Amino acid sequence: MAAKIRVGVAGAGFIGAVHARAYRHVADVELVGIADPAEERAEALAKEVGCRRFPSYEALLDAGVDIISVCLPPHLHLPRPKQRPRQASMC
Ligand SMILES: NC(=O)c1ccc[n+]([C@@H]2O[C@H](COP(=O)([O-])OP(=O)(O)OC[C@H]3O[C@@H](n4cnc5c(N)ncnc54)[C@H](O)[C@@H]3O)[C@@H](O)[C@H]2O)c1
Repeated sequence: MAAKIRVGVAGAGFIGAVHARAYRHVADVELVGIADPAEERAEALAKEVGCRRFPSYEALLDAGVDIISVCLPPHLHLPRPKQRPRQASMC
């Protein structure tokens, strides 16, 4: 069986919740975690979708995700060079 695609969501706001809930329905995806410093909101969403909460976007990247949904205001997006070479992002 092929390995699942490891996905993370940065931002547990409106659009982050849409992405996290949608990933639950994708067969070949493992939702690794949700990163948001707003602890209460992120914990609630992580519990709902069954994954970990990470305190920062960088910690989620370090957990080894293949794809990250960047659901943050544009001024908070990390510059591309800070991501790992094989990690893709979607905004
Ligand atoms: N709302 C939409 O329908 C929609 C659709 C497409 C794209 N977008 C874009 O997505 C972005 C987010 O929109 P939203 O409506 O979800 O906003 P939102 O304010 O509901 O959520 C933003 C979240 O980002 C979190 N956050 C702030 N700093 C962070 C950090 N350093 N690391 C991790 N999380 C952090 C906040 O705590 C908050 O939970 C915007 O740029 C918007 O243009 C929104």
